Amino acid sequence: MSQQRQLHPQGPVFSRIIAGAWRWNTVSADTLERLIKTALDHGINTFDHADIYGDYSNEALFGDMLKKNPSLLKSMKLVSKCGIKLLSQKKPEHRVKHYDTSRAHIIASTETSLQRLGTDHLDLLLIHRPDPLMDAAEVRDAFIQLKQQGKVLHFGVSNFTPAQFDLLQSHLPFPLVTNQIEISLFNNQSLFDGSIDHLYQLKTSAMAWSPLGGGKQMQGEVIQNLNHLKRKYTATESQLLYAWLLKHPSVIFPVIGTTQPERIVESVKALDISLDRQDWFEMLKWATGKEVA
Ligand SMILES: NC(=O)c1ccc[n+]([C@@H]2O[C@H](COP(=O)([O-])OP(=O)(O)OC[C@H]3O[C@@H](n4cnc5c(N)ncnc54)[C@H](OP(=O)(O)O)[C@@H]3O)[C@@H](O)[C@H]2O)c1
Repeated sequence: MSQQRQLHPQGPVFSRIIAGAWRWNTVSADTLERLIKTALDHGINTFDHADIYGDYSNEALFGDMLKKNPSLLKSMKLVSKCGIKLLSQKKPEHRVKHYDTSRAHIIASTETSLQRLGTDHLDLLLIHRPDPLMDAAEVRDAFIQLKQQGKVLHFGVSNFTPAQFDLLQSHLPFPLVTNQIEISLFNNQSLFDGSIDHLYQLKTSAMAWSPLGGGKQMQGEVIQNLNHLKRKYTATESQLLYAWLLKHPSVIFPVIGTTQPERIVESVKALDISLDRQDWFEMLKWATGKEVA
C-alpha cells in the first residue's frame, strides 16, 4: 500500500499512518526526539497536535525538538486543532471547561500553535469539537484570513456529526478536507451510522483517532481471539487493528498514539497487510460479540 495519500482531492498529501502527539508529554526529550526521527525515517511524515495537548505544553515540546533539528521541519506535515478551552493553571481566566470557535479565538490559538511549533504554517487546522455556540460565519472569516495569510493551508473538523460538517461546509468557499473521529475495531459505530459513508460520498478521508481504542483492550479477550490471524498474516495485534482500518475503501488515516519508537516502526508494517474479507468480518464479530445480520 502506498505510504502517502491525499486526504481529499483538494487536500494535503499525508502519510497514510499519522503520528499523534497527545501522549508525548509523558516521555523524555530524548525519547520525543527518537519518536519523531523514527517516524520520519519510516515514512510517517504527518504529526497530529492540538493547542491543549499536555495541558497546552506538547506543541512547545515538539517545537523545542525542532529548534535542535531545524532541517526536519521541511519534511513534515503538521496538523493542529483549536476550539477547546481547558481548566488549567495556565489559563486562570477559564472558569469552566468550554468551547470557543469565535473568530478571535481561532486566530489567536492558531498563531500560538505556530509560535510554539516554530513553523510559519500548519498544513491542516481542525476545529477540535463541535461547539453548540458555533457561528459558522465567524469560523469562515477566521479560516479565510488564516488561508490568505498563508498560516494554514487546509481546514477540517473533528468529532463533528455529518449535519454539523455540512453546516460549516455550506459557509466555506473551500472544502473541509477531513473529519477526525474515533474509529477502531473496538469503536466501530461510525462505519454503520452513516458518518463514514457521508465522508466517502464527499471523497473526504476520515482521520481515525484512538485506532487501538486507546490501548485499554490490547490485552483483552478480543485480542486473544486474533491469535490465528496473527499467525496467518505474521502480524502483531496492533498491525491487525491498523490493517482493519486501512482496508476500508473510503481511505481512513489512522492517527496512532504510541509513545514507543519501536511501536512506530511496527505500525508501518500494517501497510503491507491486505486482510481477507472474511478475516475482516471475523475481527468485527469478535469485537461486537455477534455476527452481522
Ligand atoms: N480529535 C480528537 O478528539 C482526538 C481524541 C483523542 C486522540 N486524538 C489523536 O489521536 C492520537 C491517538 O490516540 P490514542 O493515543 O488514544 O491512540 P491509540 O493508538 O489507540 O492508543 C495508544 C495507547 O495504546 C497503548 N498501547 C497498548 N498496546 C499497544 C500496542 N501493542 N501498540 C501500540 N500502542 C499500544 C499505547 O501505549 P505505549 O505508548 O506504551 O505504546 C498508548 O498508551 C492522539 O495522539 C491524538 O493525536 C484525537
